[in-house]
Amino acid sequence: MITKFQRVCRKGFQPRYISGRRGFQPRKLTKIGAIFVSILFLLIYPTTSPKGDSHSEKDMARPASTQYEKRIPSRDGIGKIYMGREISQVMGHLAAGWLERPEREREEMPNKLLEMLKLKKGDVVADIGVGTGYIARRISPIVGKTGTIYGVEIQQEMLDILAKKMAEEGITNIKGVLGTITNPKLPPNSVDLAIMVDVYHEFSHPYEMMHNICRALKVGGRVAFIEYRLEDDNVPIKRLHKMSELQVIKEATPHPLSWIETLDGLPWQHVIIFEKVATE
Ligand SMILES: C[S@@+](CC[C@H](N)C(=O)[O-])C[C@H]1O[C@@H](n2cnc3c(N)ncnc32)[C@H](O)[C@@H]1O
Repeated sequence: MITKFQRVCRKGFQPRYISGRRGFQPRKLTKIGAIFVSILFLLIYPTTSPKGDSHSEKDMARPASTQYEKRIPSRDGIGKIYMGREISQVMGHLAAGWLERPEREREEMPNKLLEMLKLKKGDVVADIGVGTGYIARRISPIVGKTGTIYGVEIQQEMLDILAKKMAEEGITNIKGVLGTITNPKLPPNSVDLAIMVDVYHEFSHPYEMMHNICRALKVGGRVAFIEYRLEDDNVPIKRLHKMSELQVIKEATPHPLSWIETLDGLPWQHVIIFEKVATE
């Protein structure tokens, strides 16, 4: 017998992502979940909680503008605010099927995106938040046998799906990397392009992640934020899963990154590109 929970899992939690009527809404479960999370939140975090996340000395030593704040989570958020933006929940591996949906070709045009990024043979690419490898698998033939793609994930289940798909498709130049919520665990000064497709807004520790991504980039290496456009009301994605160009630039500013360009031309996303500058 299939339980309601199994039915929800089979469909995946992808609908959290979609706004309006388009998505299936597991309302009851979400309501119970929201009440549970709110109670937990109130128990764990007193309302007098000051700014900051872990309140480690390192966090508090950062400029005030880069410290985290807390509030009661909104429906799709984790109740943690970074530079005025509430961070969204992470998309769970049960929604992996949504990443591979056929209509994604039309909605996101991944091949056009990769043309825009002007990668070349031998490049080292870090696909941060690689998921099932929907993007990394398309990068594979572009960088070729002499190139490497680090597929970074915090969910081992996603890396398992990636490994299966690589075996099916005979891909050998993607290396799955199990990172942490603060560190992609990449070798320093090794990466030509760090790409984040629909990922950055989910980082629970965006400051730490960007700090460590910058360490992994070569000087002159690029980082590309591919985010659903908040500025465009016609993009049918939920608020916290969208980001404005201005917000991305604001959040990149504390890091040794120089804005290069913002590319339009994709149906739902903008591509915001920075270059790592030398720090000394
Ligand atoms: C919406 S999915 C996008 C997956 C893939 N980029 C794509 O476009 O198909 C976001 C992924 O980012 C991963 N993620 C979230 N925070 C992360 C972090 N700090 N480091 C690495 N991956 C992270 C999640 O586990 C999830 O698989």
